[in-house]
Amino acid sequence: MTKFSHVLALLVSLGSAHLHSRHDSYQSPIIGDPTLAINSVAPSTRTYWMRQANIALGAPCPFAAFGAVVVNHTVGGLGELVCSGANSNSKTGNPIMHGEMAAITNCSAILTDPKGKYKLTPAQALNAFADLTIYTNAESCPMCASAIRWAGFREYVYGTSIDTLITKGWGQIRISSLEVVSQSFDLSKPTRLLGGVLANETDQFFFWQFDPAHKCPEGCKRDESGGSSTCKAL
Ligand SMILES: *[C@@H]1O[C@H](CO)[C@@H](O)[C@H](O)[C@H]1NC(C)=O
Ligand SMILES: *[C@@H]1O[C@H](CO)[C@@H](O)[C@H](O)[C@H]1NC(C)=O
Ligand SMILES: *[C@@H]1O[C@H](CO)[C@@H](O)[C@H](O)[C@H]1NC(C)=O
Ligand SMILES: [Zn+2]
Repeated sequence: MTKFSHVLALLVSLGSAHLHSRHDSYQSPIIGDPTLAINSVAPSTRTYWMRQANIALGAPCPFAAFGAVVVNHTVGGLGELVCSGANSNSKTGNPIMHGEMAAITNCSAILTDPKGKYKLTPAQALNAFADLTIYTNAESCPMCASAIRWAGFREYVYGTSIDTLITKGWGQIRISSLEVVSQSFDLSKPTRLLGGVLANETDQFFFWQFDPAHKCPEGCKRDESGGSSTCKAL
């Protein structure tokens, strides 16, 4: 071995030791059971809002079926809807308009609208997120998970996981929300992470796009007229 390759071998072994210790210690893959009343919110209430995140799509089977709603649960009961958003990349030509980015952008506009319900100053709007929960029908990509942490949401709840999306053919950046949330402890506001909420229903919005044999979401049927198989609204 040359001196150089000794150093290289040492760096490689340090690197893998570092990775192992990360996975063995704080990077626990366990998150709260979605059927529990975490933060005093009933599971049926979580289900209700996750279905609203699907409804926020505005169509029964858009290709990029990523929808989100933002809810104030600190009022108790069912909670109050503040804003919603859906992936609008292809509508706007803006590649960062994922459902969560669209929802956050929409919330800021709604919270600061001088003619709206809230009439907050920008500074008040920034602080308002600490009371709010974002529901997204699929686990956020690292961009959106980071945006959620920068916003300082009280809770972040997702349905379908990134791992499931990858299995079903979606291109994804392989950094879990658990990783983004675990690495963001220097930020001043904590975010409670809940995953797999109503995944049995959110999954159906993401399973048909790359699998012509999979049935379409409710309200849609297969259409082969364009030369490829897609789901179209009835
Ligand atoms: C959320 O509810 C709390 C009451 O618990 C209220 O003080 C706060 O203004 C609400 N935030 C928004 C954005 O509605
Ligand atoms: C903003 O949120 C409101 C309330 O959910 C919704 O009615 C509206 O369609 C949303 N706007 C956009 C651009 O997503
Ligand atoms: C999905 O599971 C929930 C319970 O977590 C249940 O209430 C709901 O009916 C199920 N949806 C379907 C379509 O089976
Ligand atoms: Zn995203």
